[in-house]
Amino acid sequence: MRVLSGIQSSGKLHLGNYLGAMRQHIELQEPHDCFFFIANYHSLTTVQDAKLLRQLTLDVALDYLALGLDPNKAKLFRQSDIPEVTELAWILSTVTGMGLLERATSYKDKVAKGISPSMGLFGYPLLMAADILIYRSDWVPVGKDQVQHIEMTQDMAGYFNTTFGREVLKRPEAKLNEAMIVPGVDGQKMSKSYGNAINLFDSPAETKKRIMSIKTDSTPVADPKNPETCNVFALYRLLARPDEVSALRERYLKGGMGYGEAKTMLAEVVECVLGPARQRREALVKDPSYVQDVLVTAARKARAVAQEVMEDVRDACGIVTARIPLPSGERVG
Ligand code: TRP
Repeated sequence: MRVLSGIQSSGKLHLGNYLGAMRQHIELQEPHDCFFFIANYHSLTTVQDAKLLRQLTLDVALDYLALGLDPNKAKLFRQSDIPEVTELAWILSTVTGMGLLERATSYKDKVAKGISPSMGLFGYPLLMAADILIYRSDWVPVGKDQVQHIEMTQDMAGYFNTTFGREVLKRPEAKLNEAMIVPGVDGQKMSKSYGNAINLFDSPAETKKRIMSIKTDSTPVADPKNPETCNVFALYRLLARPDEVSALRERYLKGGMGYGEAKTMLAEVVECVLGPARQRREALVKDPSYVQDVLVTAARKARAVAQEVMEDVRDACGIVTARIPLPSGERVG
């Protein structure tokens, strides 16, 4: 199966990103043909500072590699190394009605929050559809909030194929991440914009401090506690081994354990995952040419697929290009 997903480079990645998406991506690299890209064109709808965008783009690559993405198994590349996606986004915009885009809930939510929308924000689903369709992806692992965008992608593939009378674009399926909602320190869904995130690569002391600040109820130490409604337990369950999870559940139900102790246990399992990743990340930061090489090698493979699909797309809709060669050969990366 060809699996594809995009990750925006618009801020520090946190445990919610890892448990809700990145971990699943990394697991899929074993059995599937995976394309993971850093959606820096999408980030441009929110990050409009060149230095920052460059840094955030690199950070996503470092974070993925540190957490275990294996560049020999999965392709990790920058969206901007495949300029054909923006071309396809344009072509899709010509067969897609305004009404479809106007129904996008994530767009409507942003407008309702008072963001004054750019054309890029409105057209975000077109670029996302192009990202997916240009590799003839089968599965797109995403969180619930992105499912509507995948449905729109299916619609757009259909509009193109019917308009031009050819089955050029393949309809992808969303692969919903099973993981439950990852709570932040205040119990709401963990999100950079809510200020409740536990970042992946803060210092160990900072991370511990964040974990100790997780909101809990005021059940006295001696009393039994409900693991199902506890934010600390919810995070522990997503990270610890099944036997550790049942052991902690027992202790909640029995009473006699304070939340402070549960938080300390959570901090330990978090450190087990993040500690080794932090070390790998530090080594990668010192080796920028390796990281660059990973991104470019993957982009080359991805671009070969994208160019082939675009040939079919242009042919189906009658767009003619002269393929004027670049004077010094093509520059990738
Ligand atoms: N919109 C996605 C998000 O914010 C990121 C993204 C861009 C994406 N292009 C994609 C995800 C293509 C899956 C497939 O999470």
